[in-house]
Amino acid sequence: MSENSVKSPWPGPAGLIPVTNGKAEDANVYNRAFLDRIHVEMRIVDAVKPDLTTKIFGRTYASPIMMPAFSHLNQVGKDGQKPMVQYAEAAKALHVLNWVGMEPDEEYAEIAAAGADTVRIIKPFADHEVIREQIRFAEAHGAVAVGIDIDHVPGKDGGYDVVDGIPLGPISSEDLSAYVKSTALPFVAKGVLSVRDALKARDAGCGAIVVSHHHGRIPFGIAPAQVLPKIKEALAGSGMAVFCDCGIDTGYDAYKVLALGADAVSVGRGILRPLLQTGSKGVENKVKKMNAELSELMLYTGIPNTRSFDSSVLWA
Ligand SMILES: Cc1cc2nc3c(=O)[nH]c(=O)nc-3n(C[C@H](O)[C@H](O)[C@H](O)COP(=O)(O)O)c2cc1C
Repeated sequence: MSENSVKSPWPGPAGLIPVTNGKAEDANVYNRAFLDRIHVEMRIVDAVKPDLTTKIFGRTYASPIMMPAFSHLNQVGKDGQKPMVQYAEAAKALHVLNWVGMEPDEEYAEIAAAGADTVRIIKPFADHEVIREQIRFAEAHGAVAVGIDIDHVPGKDGGYDVVDGIPLGPISSEDLSAYVKSTALPFVAKGVLSVRDALKARDAGCGAIVVSHHHGRIPFGIAPAQVLPKIKEALAGSGMAVFCDCGIDTGYDAYKVLALGADAVSVGRGILRPLLQTGSKGVENKVKKMNAELSELMLYTGIPNTRSFDSSVLWA
C-alpha cells in the first residue's frame, strides 16, 4: 500500500487534519480512524482455511494475537480476584504469548506461576539497579523475553514521570545496549514510534520492538500501524521481531496490522472489559472471537498462514 494512500485518515481534502483538543486521547482517536479507513480486496479463488499458528522467539503459538503488557489490575479485581493472573490463565488456555507490565516481583511471580509463556516489560526506572534486579527476577521465573516500555519516560508535568511514587528516568542507547548484554533472553524495546528509535533499538541489539504509543501516551501521536511499514522496511534483514499494539479490538484490526508488517499483535483495552467482568473465560472468548475474525478475513483474501500476509490486499 502506498504511503500517500493512507496519509490522512480524516475525511476531506488530503492532509487536512481537523482541529483537536490536544489531549493524548487524540492519538487514540486518530489511531482508530486510521485503522477504520483501511479496506481489503477479495482473493477467494484457491483460498483455503488458514493456519493461525505463529512462531515468536522460536516458540510456536496458536495465534499471532497476544496478551497486552497490563499492570495494576489486581488493585481493581472484585472479591479478591486477580485480573493480572486471570489473563495469564487465559493466555495459557489459548496457547498465546502473555505480556506483563509494571508489577512488583511478588506479583510477577504469581502471574508467571499461571504457566503461560510470558514477556516481562519493566518501567524505565530512574534507579537502573531496580531494572537490572527485575530482569534477573524475570529470568529466574522463566520469562521468554524481557524489555522496557521506553515510551513511558515523560510525565504530564513535562519532566520524568513518577509511577506509584517511583521515579522514572531517561533511557539512552548505551543503557539499552547494556541491558541487552546483561541477559541471555531476547530484549524488547516497547513503545517505538519512529524509524529512528527502531534503528537505535536494532543497534543496541534488541531482539524485538513493539511499535506502540501505549494507548496514547504521546499527545498527537501518529498511529502505530501507520509508521509500521517504514519500520519493518528499515529493520529488514535484522532478524528482529516487530510487534504492534494500540486500538486492536477485533480480528479485522489484527489482520490489517499484520498485513502492514507486524509479526504479531497485542490486544490491549479490548480485553479489559471481559477480563474485569468475567475473568479468564471472558478473555478467552474475546480472543477466540478475534481469532475467528482474523481467520475469516485471511480466508477471504487468500492468506493461507501467518507467514504470508501481503499489504497489497489493503486499500485506503
Ligand atoms: C490498565 C493498563 C495498564 C498498562 N500497564 C502497562 C505497563 O505497565 N507497561 C506497559 O508497557 N504498557 C502498559 N499498558 C499499555 C499496554 O501494554 C498497551 O501498550 C496498550 O494498552 C495498547 O493500546 P490499546 O489499549 O489501545 O490496545 C497498560 C495499559 C492498560 C490499559
